[in-house]
Amino acid sequence: MTRVFSGVKPTGHLTLGNYLGAMRQWAEVDQHRADALFCVVDLHALTVDHDPARVRRLSRQAATLLLATGLDPELCTVFVQSHVDEHARLSYVLECVATDGEMRRMIQYKEKAARERARGGSVRLSLLTYPVLMAADILAYGADEVPVGDDQAQHVELTRDLAVRFNQRYGHTFVVPKATVPEVAARVMNLQEPASKMGKSDDFGPGIVYLLDEPDVMRKKVMRAVTDSGREVVYDREGRPGVANLLEILAACTGKKPGALADAYESYGALKKDTAEAVVEVLRPVQERHKALCADPGHVEGVLGEGAEKARAMARPTVDAAYRAIGLLPAVSGAPAVALNAAR
Ligand code: TRP
Repeated sequence: MTRVFSGVKPTGHLTLGNYLGAMRQWAEVDQHRADALFCVVDLHALTVDHDPARVRRLSRQAATLLLATGLDPELCTVFVQSHVDEHARLSYVLECVATDGEMRRMIQYKEKAARERARGGSVRLSLLTYPVLMAADILAYGADEVPVGDDQAQHVELTRDLAVRFNQRYGHTFVVPKATVPEVAARVMNLQEPASKMGKSDDFGPGIVYLLDEPDVMRKKVMRAVTDSGREVVYDREGRPGVANLLEILAACTGKKPGALADAYESYGALKKDTAEAVVEVLRPVQERHKALCADPGHVEGVLGEGAEKARAMARPTVDAAYRAIGLLPAVSGAPAVALNAAR
């Protein structure tokens, strides 16, 4: 069976963009058709200035939300990255296969590092090596497919390069994965800045619909979305990005085509109103399940505990194989101590 791996980084509250862009597909499609793992990648949240209590809180919330979207622990594996040592173990070995030039060429690194330096801050070394840890996340499980947004395509490409290079140098060890863009995905843009993605790490709240926003807050955010000058509703991503974004959100929520929806509306007001309601409706079951799961934190912990155990059992043989292939001496447990005692 195809193996699928994806991750969410607990650096901010999850958004409608995360949901329509990726998470919904994981729950509705991927967990049913593939052997799928979904991971709260908390180690990745430590690559930029962070508050330990917040990372902990957001990790728990992200795990709860993954389950609330409908991921079923009977069908897939949901776990937290730091609970499984194999990620960090493999990451080091892959650092011995990757080059520093390769890391410095990563677009996300360049952008984030430049932003950090402009603020007068320092750049954590882990920000540079982040893509190697991400490669380890994927390669440890022999994942065939990695469903991610297009901003992660370069990192998956690097993962492929590292897998191929390792296999060529040290013998076949890793499955070479590929990025898949979810079929029904919408690229949801910030409602106030339709030129940029609705990302969770942005702190520009008014343009971001969070999965746990109160319905009235969601409605308000959609109603206040910036639209474009002009009056008729046309679907034109370049010329009318604000309206196009609303049409795409409404299309993603209703299963219709943005172009066809444009023809059905006479005014921006009516489009906004229907989009707001559609968003509230799409997220209602997620919010309801989230509430029920929060009332039973022991259940979520249990799921994560079992998930980590399953994940460890899957990753361990591959990471051990990589250690042997690259030249590390296997540890033989037990036997040497017995031999030593006998010799004394
Ligand atoms: N880098 C991804 C992001 O920022 C998160 C991530 C980490 C990931 N490891 C992964 C995604 C492995 C897919 C597979 O969104």
